[in-house]
Amino acid sequence: MIKSIKIDNFKSLVDFKLDFAKFTCLVGLNGSGKSTVLQAMDFLSQLMQGDVDEWLEFRHWTSADINSKLTKKSNIDFEVTLADAVFGEIVWSGSFNRVSKCCTQEWVKVGEVTLLEVDNSICKIRKLSDKPGKTLFPLMFPVVFEYQGSILSQLKDNQTTDVLQFLKLALINVESLDLLSPELLRTRTKTAGGKLGLGGEKLAAFIHESGKDGKEKLQQQLAKVYTQLESIETRSLPSGFKELEIVERFGEQKIKSSARQMNDGLLRLMAILSQIESAKPFLLFDEIENGINPELIEFLIDRLVNATTQVLVTTHSPMILNYMEDEIAVAGIVYLYKNNQGITRSIKLFDIPSMAEKLKFMGPGEVFADTDLTNLYQEIDTLH
Ligand SMILES: Nc1ncnc2c1ncn2[C@@H]1O[C@H](COP(=O)(O)OP(=O)(O)OP(=O)(O)O)[C@@H](O)[C@H]1O
Ligand SMILES: [Mg+2]
Repeated sequence: MIKSIKIDNFKSLVDFKLDFAKFTCLVGLNGSGKSTVLQAMDFLSQLMQGDVDEWLEFRHWTSADINSKLTKKSNIDFEVTLADAVFGEIVWSGSFNRVSKCCTQEWVKVGEVTLLEVDNSICKIRKLSDKPGKTLFPLMFPVVFEYQGSILSQLKDNQTTDVLQFLKLALINVESLDLLSPELLRTRTKTAGGKLGLGGEKLAAFIHESGKDGKEKLQQQLAKVYTQLESIETRSLPSGFKELEIVERFGEQKIKSSARQMNDGLLRLMAILSQIESAKPFLLFDEIENGINPELIEFLIDRLVNATTQVLVTTHSPMILNYMEDEIAVAGIVYLYKNNQGITRSIKLFDIPSMAEKLKFMGPGEVFADTDLTNLYQEIDTLH
């Protein structure tokens, strides 16, 4: 589980810190930085995958777009804290240089023990089982090769340690679907390689690769709210591209539609549920209510809250919050706002006294709907 992130100098995130619950929901006014937080998570995941150029290109950004216009600083500094039952708390921190597009400094620590250090072009690695207090690193080498992102994106498993492999995988598997769009969900691709793609462009291939079992499970989930759905089918076209189709039953009649004719809401729901089913460790969705009927939202929130994976969503909809138990809402609803310098700040919504007070006699969504967000920062100001 990812416990928290700190990031400094990424767009509107300056000296920004966010704690995650198992289910975290970001709320806040337009422009407060909700999507930016998802982008930052995706950026951190990309550092572990290397190839920052490809990532920038996909988002139509240049490296000048990702650092903050609000500071004069050049590097993006970050710290990610993971909690694991076996290894304990693992902290990965570093400094990303946007000219070389690599982390010029990097550390991985468990407690006081440094397991990885990259500094002054020297990489040092130590196993957790190596004697504590030992000053020398068993593995030390000059970094003479060029790379993008984290050095861990370059090292093969047999060149690192179990903790470093665990960390790398946990971050690579952060699945940010912040650009999910009906247009892209209708795209045909040949392969998915276990990834839906930022905008969902590999949906058909992803479902195809999940096999018969995967399709049946997905159909069963969807049929709970979409009762006419008989089956989900995929096929490989002669060109190798994968096609997604659904069969619906209306009375005695069955009709088959391809992804191109399918409705937007069903496609989105299919994409979201397919990710929950695939048990990715950390899923991120922007504007979760987009294109989905109010009747289905309760089902969707229930699935997301009870997923085995960690989930981060953003929403504008008070109704969404009403479907959360108070306990989940208190732990997981985070209010984002901009301070008067334009910097994004976060606070748990129900750590704000007036919000906690209202929660005693209202649902979380009613509290949210009943609050004038444009004035909330005044109360938050008095808390510090
Ligand atoms: N490089 C940058 N430096 C500083 N601030 C930036 C930078 N890039 C974007 N911003 C700010 O971040 C804002 C965008 O925030 P974001 O898209 O995350 O908001 P949001 O909470 O998702 O809003 P919405 O609810 O409308 O989707 C921009 O309006 C701009 O003010
Ligand atoms: Mg947004």
